[in-house]
Amino acid sequence: MAAILMDGNALRDEIIAGLRVTVEAAGSPPICLATVLVGNDGPSQRYVASKHKKALEAGLVARHVDLPDTATQGEVEAAVRELTEDVSVHGVLVQLPLPDGLDPEPVLDLIPPEKDVDGLTERSMGRLLRNRPGLVGCTPNGVMRLLEKYEVPTSGSRAVVIGRSTLVGLPLSLLLNRKGADATVTMAHSRTADMNAVVREADIVIGAAGQAGMITGDMIKPGAAVIDVGVSRTEAGIVGDVDRLSVEPVAGWLTPMPGGTGPMTIACLMENTLSAAQLQSAFPA
Ligand code: GUN
Repeated sequence: MAAILMDGNALRDEIIAGLRVTVEAAGSPPICLATVLVGNDGPSQRYVASKHKKALEAGLVARHVDLPDTATQGEVEAAVRELTEDVSVHGVLVQLPLPDGLDPEPVLDLIPPEKDVDGLTERSMGRLLRNRPGLVGCTPNGVMRLLEKYEVPTSGSRAVVIGRSTLVGLPLSLLLNRKGADATVTMAHSRTADMNAVVREADIVIGAAGQAGMITGDMIKPGAAVIDVGVSRTEAGIVGDVDRLSVEPVAGWLTPMPGGTGPMTIACLMENTLSAAQLQSAFPA
């Protein structure tokens, strides 16, 4: 039997329609998401454009700051600082990666936790680690929402997260492990010995390594949920970590690529922007 496909587009649309109803019913002053893009990387430009489009659909407003790839560390930091200090801006997102030569961490850490809609700053990540309330990264949150929507059992399950990035792998491992989700999580990476054996044990497999097609059907426990978060830019276009052709007949659930986790990142970004406005008392909680 083929895997159930986890439709991220449908869940994104449901979430965004719900946000729009909430925002319109509250009739509050505009809730604003601000994005910062440095350089002219095509895929990053497209990601940011789709974030703006969905922000408008959710009833939010969006602002954008575009900086050239010649921008200095100081110029990028000044632009971010200005947005963080602007009371009409509720969420600030710096699109990653920054061009070579720029250090993202000091830039991100300028964003206060209540405006950190990406959940990527030192303080937001610290809150997640301590299990305190705060804004959680959009991609990890989006994966958890998909698992909930499709009623994939997490409690007592074995999960393997392949990839240990601060954007996805690390926070997602924490979310799967924490009370409520209660999975037993293995964090795997490029130096994991016998990756096949590790994946084969797992009821939930998260591909977040950015290694095109590295997860194949022969590695998967029959019936497992396989979530593809990997993004590799190849000549054939954007490719995930999961080899769909061989995995789909074996898995119980599978996120398609595209149309799986990508749209959920955007939906959770809009939710986080509304939560950010609530944290700033700009929107009724
Ligand atoms: N680049 C790729 N994904 C993301 C994301 O979720 N947030 C940011 N800021 N940059 C990204």
